[in-house]
This record gives sequence, structure tokens and C-alpha cells, in this order.
Amino acid sequence: MLKAQLEYIRSKTDIVPEIAIVLGSGLGELADKIDIKCIIDYRNIEGFPISTAPSHRGRFVFGEMEGKKVVLMQGRVHLYEGYSAKHIAFPIRLMRLMGAKKLILTNAAGGINKDLKPGDFMMISDHISCFVDSPLIGKNIDFLGNRFPDMSNAYDIELQKTIKEVAINNSIPLKKGVYCQLKGPQFETPAEIKMISALGADAVGMSTAIETIAAVHCGFKVCAISLITNYACGILDKKLSGEEVVETADSVSQNFEKLIKEIVKSI
Ligand code: HPA
Repeated sequence: MLKAQLEYIRSKTDIVPEIAIVLGSGLGELADKIDIKCIIDYRNIEGFPISTAPSHRGRFVFGEMEGKKVVLMQGRVHLYEGYSAKHIAFPIRLMRLMGAKKLILTNAAGGINKDLKPGDFMMISDHISCFVDSPLIGKNIDFLGNRFPDMSNAYDIELQKTIKEVAINNSIPLKKGVYCQLKGPQFETPAEIKMISALGADAVGMSTAIETIAAVHCGFKVCAISLITNYACGILDKKLSGEEVVETADSVSQNFEKLIKEIVKSI
């Protein structure tokens, strides 16, 4: 399947991207601002999962950003759309097979740690993925990676260092913390947030840890930034909504775009 998918991509473009980026909420527009060379809709790739989440377009955008060849995922897929962890791995693996070596993941997340407020950026230093399936369950695909990949440096230490410097040099406040992925689509209960807080989570979301696992397995150097769109459930006496997530994401999208562009320039 992966080989056929790669052949399809190669029939459309021969670009070998250096960096792959998954655009989460608030960043979708970034794809329209790069020097675009080619666009491929997921729905034209055989066996590919199609994004149904709000503000997720569902296509690969190839082009140049800050002088570097990139492939962007304008829209990702989530477990809550009915896809398995394996489906979620497809686009990540495909971008690696296209030749990308570094992966920047972005997402919207709820802030649990009291230091995090809506509009903040949090560089992910580690994750808790044990509430969701691994994308590596099933027969190992040996040409991608080994059966038992090490996760001790899942978020590459060197990339983290560079990102920290980029944020300081551009006066963009950047927090750092542990991301916990849950399945969704319902937001968490206060008891669930209390539980994952006790386990060490600083932020909670519904996407990224599975992608990181698939990416580490196939040899990507991974970094990830969460945009904190809301206080997690129970932190404030206030109801959560998907609209709030999208609104906050949109309100800081310019700064988020700047941070990502500067990261691309520097890594
Ligand atoms: N919980 C889970 N996922 C999220 C949240 C949240 O509070 N905010 C944005 N994505």
C-alpha cells in the first residue's frame, strides 16, 4: 500500500522535501503562504484516510518555505473520526518515504498546568500515549523501522534546543511540557484531567502522540508545538467547545506562523 501511495506521489511531483510539517488548528492557512509547487488531495491517494475535522483541509502541499523544500499536511486525521492508529501513520510514513528527515508536528491542546493559558505555545518535551493504540501494533514493517523502537528521545533534544533559541531570538514566549493524547471526541471530564495531571501531563489533546510514535519508528527527527487553546476541563468553572478551540487558534495564528517559519529557517 505504502509503495503504491509513494508511486502515486512520484507521478505528480519529484520534490524531495527536507522537512515535513503537520499543520494543526490555527496553522492551516500557512500552507497558502508558501511558494507552492504541487498540491495532492488525500482523497486521490488510494487507501488514504480523509480529514473530516473542522478546519482540516485534507491535502499535501509541497513547496519552499524559508528557502527549504517542505511538505505540509494541511489537515490531519484523528482517532475520533473513526480511523485506527494505523491509518494515522500512513501520511507520516509517506512523508518519510518522500525523503523528509525532520518532522514538525503542531496541534491545539487544552492547558492543564497552571502556567499554561489560552494563546500560549508549548514545545512538547515528552508524551503520554498509553490511553490510545500504538500505530505500530501488528506486523512490523521492517523496511521502515524496528519492532521495538526506543522512545527516550522521541522529541529530538537537538531540535528542542534550536526551537528554544529561535523563540528567544524572536521574542516569542514558549513554554515546554508533557502532552497527553486521549481519544476524544468528547472533551475530558474534570476527573480525567485530574488523573492525567497526576500522571504528569501539562496539556491534553487528541492527535499528536500517535503521529510521533509512527514518525520515530520510521526514523524521523521529531519536534512538536502545541498551541494552548483553552484551559482543560475543570481548571475553570466553564464549559468547553470546539468553537472556542478554533477561535483561540485563529486569534494567534499569525504568531504561530512566525514561530514555525523561524523554526524551519533554523533547523
Ligand atoms: N482537550 C482535548 N483536546 C483538545 C483540547 C482539550 O481541552 N483543546 C484542544 N484540543
